[in-house]
Amino acid sequence: MIGIKVRCYKEITRFKIQNPVSVRWNSTNSPALKTLEEMPGLSKLPVIGALHHFLPVVGSIGHIENFFNLYGHFHKKYGSFVKMEGILSRPPMVIMFEPEHYDQVYRVEEENPLRPGFDTIVYYREVLQKSTFDGVYGLTTAQGEKWRDFRTKVNPALLKLKLLKVYAPGIEEIATEFVERLKKTKEDPVYLQNHFYDEMSKYALEAVGFVGLGARLGTLSEDLTEDHPARRLQTSVKDIFDLAIRIEARPKFMKHLPTAPYRKILAACDTQWEISSMYIEQARNTIKNRGYEIPEEDKSIIEKLLAIDEKVAVMMANEMLLAGIDTVSFVTVGLLYHLATNPQAQDRVREEVQSTGTSRRYLKACLKESLRIWPVIPANLRRTTKEHVVGGYLLPKGVEVIAPNEFLSKQEKYYTRPLEFIPERWLADKSDPLYYGNAHPMVTLPFGFGVRSCIGRRIAELEIEILTSAIVDNFVVSWHGPPIKVKTTIMNLFQKPYNFKFESVK
Ligand code: HEM
Repeated sequence: MIGIKVRCYKEITRFKIQNPVSVRWNSTNSPALKTLEEMPGLSKLPVIGALHHFLPVVGSIGHIENFFNLYGHFHKKYGSFVKMEGILSRPPMVIMFEPEHYDQVYRVEEENPLRPGFDTIVYYREVLQKSTFDGVYGLTTAQGEKWRDFRTKVNPALLKLKLLKVYAPGIEEIATEFVERLKKTKEDPVYLQNHFYDEMSKYALEAVGFVGLGARLGTLSEDLTEDHPARRLQTSVKDIFDLAIRIEARPKFMKHLPTAPYRKILAACDTQWEISSMYIEQARNTIKNRGYEIPEEDKSIIEKLLAIDEKVAVMMANEMLLAGIDTVSFVTVGLLYHLATNPQAQDRVREEVQSTGTSRRYLKACLKESLRIWPVIPANLRRTTKEHVVGGYLLPKGVEVIAPNEFLSKQEKYYTRPLEFIPERWLADKSDPLYYGNAHPMVTLPFGFGVRSCIGRRIAELEIEILTSAIVDNFVVSWHGPPIKVKTTIMNLFQKPYNFKFESVK
């Protein structure tokens, strides 16, 4: 069993399904289960499946910018279960709008949680570069035994609370450099409007590089040249993300055609591997040349992973760079936006940060609340490995069950005043109508679920809390413009312009 605590929800029985699916009864008076074919959802056409619904102008849905709006449309039209077939050449997908339903499936699937995706990277690692990777496929792309084996090896190094002790001082230094940079860039509002997200992703890369590769990359320095390894790393990760969605969207038979974007993504994967390996090699030499042992709790993630296996260390660093940049950037920008548009909450965070105490209770509540409203991943997913009987349906093996967490987290049914940023709900006691625990525990899952949930959670929280504290300590943050917009590609992203204003704290 993997060493992660799975939350145990005693209160689960308190929640009643409000729209039970009506089922027919057979002659023996037991319910006749409905099949997947009978499930409401998008009609499909040969070859293109349900894709035609999303065509501009002629499609029944057309272009929808983000999943929140899309799921709102689905729920209204179809109810608790919605089936989609032939999307992105994937198996049938079922969106379940009752948390009790996907909860039931996700818990049973905990034995072997499958979360497929990133087909191009899978193909790169498992087919094109098979001999390099030699069966070590990482967490984001591996499934089954390969995933379990890798996760069991890396869990102890990444999930220890002691990480804070090892990494907080270095991340604080990076946050200070970010603030110094912001003191200059804030004087150029047009630059900030266009580049604030890039600035944030430099911080996220520098911080996750420091944790994953054991090196300061120099991403925040002013004289970063295009051929600097840090810059090449940054560009390769950006290319992988930008191109992955375009290639995933192709029909199956076109997935591996050597088109220009396809060649570019493979080149980006090569660069990312090559540079990560170089930094890991440097870290290995530093540890070797140190010449003395240090206590286990003071060891870095890399030192711990290198003791297990060098390939595991390089692969984990790679995964951290893939999964740890846009996620942290998006969440930090979202949190700053909420603080900018809720000055009272910002003042309270500043008071906390500037006090002599070490508690960051209110800041943590702000982060939770911001993640409730804008998670990076708007919906979680598991592919079934067996049949399930759920809500009157017989769900076969091989179906992708989608939990529309962002959509549900903004429903009155689960949270009082759900569209408002109210960090106090995470601190309120049970008698308060705002109390977060009134929502079903599977509704808000910004870091995913169970043994396959985000392994970078602690690192991400540390990076975000340290940077937000440093910004709020130095600047009064405000927002001047229409509300920021979110679009969904492979994950949620904000759209320009970034109308932040940073004024020095008096
Ligand atoms: C606030 C920032 C972040 C958020 C909201 C986030 C969210 C998520 C989510 C929703 C998943 C899917 C979990 C599931 O399927 O149950 C995930 C997986 C993952 N995340 Fe994060 N993540 C963040 C930051 C990071 C960082 C900084 C790292 C690396 C240091 C990271 C590494 C990973 C990896 C490797 C996986 C795959 C885990 C597995 O399949 O075993 N994430 N993350």
